[in-house]
Amino acid sequence: MADGNITKDAMYDAVAPDDFVSMLEIDRYDGRSPAFDKIIAATHDHFWDPLNKKYIDFDAPFDVENEALMPEDMFPALKTDYVQKMLADPKDKIRFINESTRWSLSSILHGEQGALNLSASLCHVLKDQGAQEYAANQTREEARHVTAFAKYIKARWGKPMACGPVLQNLLVEIIGAPEVYKKIVGMQMLVEGLAMGAFATFFTETHDPLMKKLMQLVMTDEAFHHKFGKIWADRTVPKLDPEEHAVVEDWAAHCFQTLLFNLVAPHQQREMYESFGMDVDKVVEELQTIATDEMRREEMKKATNIFRVLIKTLLNAGIITDRTRAFYGLYVDMDELKAEGDVMVGDAIADEGIAYLREINFKKPAAPALIAAE
Ligand SMILES: [Fe+2]
Ligand SMILES: [Fe+2]
Repeated sequence: MADGNITKDAMYDAVAPDDFVSMLEIDRYDGRSPAFDKIIAATHDHFWDPLNKKYIDFDAPFDVENEALMPEDMFPALKTDYVQKMLADPKDKIRFINESTRWSLSSILHGEQGALNLSASLCHVLKDQGAQEYAANQTREEARHVTAFAKYIKARWGKPMACGPVLQNLLVEIIGAPEVYKKIVGMQMLVEGLAMGAFATFFTETHDPLMKKLMQLVMTDEAFHHKFGKIWADRTVPKLDPEEHAVVEDWAAHCFQTLLFNLVAPHQQREMYESFGMDVDKVVEELQTIATDEMRREEMKKATNIFRVLIKTLLNAGIITDRTRAFYGLYVDMDELKAEGDVMVGDAIADEGIAYLREINFKKPAAPALIAAE
């Protein structure tokens, strides 16, 4: 592990990000792992285009001024007396819910941009042609997610909000990291796992049919990205020596904590709170007095809770051991999670989305082919 890469399977063999010359080794062209062929081939089944109204229409209206995009109980800050008092006018409360949603979707947009650059960066380090094609294909899918979320945010609010500093630092760290394990654990397992949970929650809870459709279409792709992380873990984790395992486990815990912090810390949304004339420190203070471990755990129990997917991914991958078990146990009942087996939250929503896309892609007149022929 001289280069820090912890490579346990030849298909994850990697070079330094600036070592293009190694890609020209003639023997390298003889190697292509078939491990990702199925995922790569499936890309045609779940093709969609955010610019084509046949798949999704971003002109679908929603009255953002008078209607809440999400239910009130999704926002813990609204459970504090301080925030309730500051939002006495029902219209202000709707504006708060919708601006909080804007912040969440902006975080997702920045996360999608991170996923695009991260998967492109995998093309530069992975040597196996199958792994490279997988990463290139994911890059393409992430690009349509960036377009789709940017279009949704534009339709509802005009502009996204700035990336919170904590999320920004994590994205910069994993995109710049030369180590494959940091990239795959950080992005494919943690960020993608969090995304699947978040998309499933938005899909289930939103009052906006356009947002619901958007979440489902994105999930048809993300379910496969999540699988890439799982394949890596299946082939790597059982072969790690204790020292290497500790490195991977600690990295996962570090990424988890960062993502959790980004999501629940009002300081990351300072500007938004200030736009309502609220003092962020006061919000944090009141949240701490009402948030008990019991309450957090109850929240986590909801099937679509966003951190459940993430913790379950790490648990099923064998990354979590007794060293960090208690840390995750603060947020979720680990025994209960283990007993649930392999089924992932969101897979059913993605499957239904893929069936919808197959219908459009293969049973209706082939408009894309006509466009290509022009
Ligand atoms: Fe994505
Ligand atoms: Fe993704």
